[in-house]
Amino acid sequence: MKRVGVLTGGGDCPGLNAVIRAVARRCFSRGYAVVGVADGWRGLVENDLEPLTAREVSGILPRGGTIIGTSRTNPYKIDGGVDRVLRHFAEAGLDALVAIGGEDTLGVAARLFAEQELPVVGVPKTIDNDLSATDYTFGFDTAVSIATEAIDRLHTTAESHNRVMVVEVMGRHTGWIAVMSGIAGGADVILIPEQPVSVEFACAELRKRHERGKSFSIVVVSEGYKLTFDSGEEREITQAPELDEFGHVRLGGVGEQLAHEIEQRTGFETRVTVLGHVQRGGSPTARDRVLATRYGLKAADLVHEGNFGRMAALHGDAIVDVSLAEATAELKTVPPEWYDVARAFFG
Ligand code: F6P
Repeated sequence: MKRVGVLTGGGDCPGLNAVIRAVARRCFSRGYAVVGVADGWRGLVENDLEPLTAREVSGILPRGGTIIGTSRTNPYKIDGGVDRVLRHFAEAGLDALVAIGGEDTLGVAARLFAEQELPVVGVPKTIDNDLSATDYTFGFDTAVSIATEAIDRLHTTAESHNRVMVVEVMGRHTGWIAVMSGIAGGADVILIPEQPVSVEFACAELRKRHERGKSFSIVVVSEGYKLTFDSGEEREITQAPELDEFGHVRLGGVGEQLAHEIEQRTGFETRVTVLGHVQRGGSPTARDRVLATRYGLKAADLVHEGNFGRMAALHGDAIVDVSLAEATAELKTVPPEWYDVARAFFG
C-alpha cells in the first residue's frame, strides 16, 4: 500500500477539486491512502497534512476553489524550507506527491525532483493557460467562459449608451484569456502583451468602426499589456511594487488608464470593467471538469508506475505525460496566428 500526498499551489482555479477527486478515486481503487497537503508547499514546510478519505472527496467535482487550500509559498525562499519539505514528506510516510499547479508550483516540483529526487508528478493548472508542453491547462476554459459572458453583457449596455467599454481580463504575462474571450465575444480591439500594438492604433480602429456607423465598441485588454505609444514609450501598470515569493509583480489597472487614453484621444465616452478574481471563482465548465478528471487519473497512474518528474498533459485529444522540466522551462505565449484571428474583426 502506498501513501500519496496531494497539494494545490498558486492561484486557485476551477477544476482543482475535480483533480483531487480523480487522483483520490484512482488511488483508493488500488488500495492506496491519500493525504491532503494544506495550502500548497506551505503544508509540507509546516507539516500541515490531513488524510483524505472517500468522504472528503465526495461531492466536490463541481465545486470551485480547492478543499485543501492553496498559497504562493516557495520553499526555496524560506530558510531551511527544502529540508523541512523533505523531512515532513518522509515523516508522513509518503511514497509520492501529486503537485497541482502552474509554472511556480510545478517549477518547485521540477527542482525538488531534479535536485532531491522527490517522487513527484505534476498536473497543469492555471486560468492563464501559459504552461508549456500541454495544449491546455484546466481552469482556462472556465475563465474564458466567464469573460465571454461578461463581454456579451457589456455589449448591450455599451450599445444603449453609445459607449466604448474596456474590459480588463487576467492572464499575467500572456494574452490567452483576452484573445479567446475577445474572439468569442466579438471584441472590436484586443490588446495583449505578446503583440504590443499602440494605443494610437487601437483608437484608429475604434474611429474607423464609428465612421462605419457603429456608435459603441468593446475593447478587451489583458492585465499584462503594457500601454504602448507610437513614440516608443511603454508603461507597465502594476498594483504594488513588491514582488511575491516567485518574483511576480501584482498586475492590474491597465484598463483604467487605457479607458482614459481612449476617451481623451477619440472623444468617445468610455467606461472600464475589471473582471479580476471573478474569472477564477465558481464552478468549472463541463470541459474543465472532464479535463481535470482525465489529468487526475493520469497523475495517479504515473504515481502507480513510479514514473516521477513527469506532468500530465493534453496533446490534441490525448492525455500524455511530459517532463516537468520541459513544462516549466518557458511560458507558452499566444502565437501570432491566434492574434491574426482576433485582428480580422478589429475596427
Ligand atoms: O495566475 C493566475 C492569476 O489569476 C493571474 O491571472 C493573476 O495575475 C494572478 O493570478 C493574481 O494573483 P492573486 O490572486 O495573488 O491576486
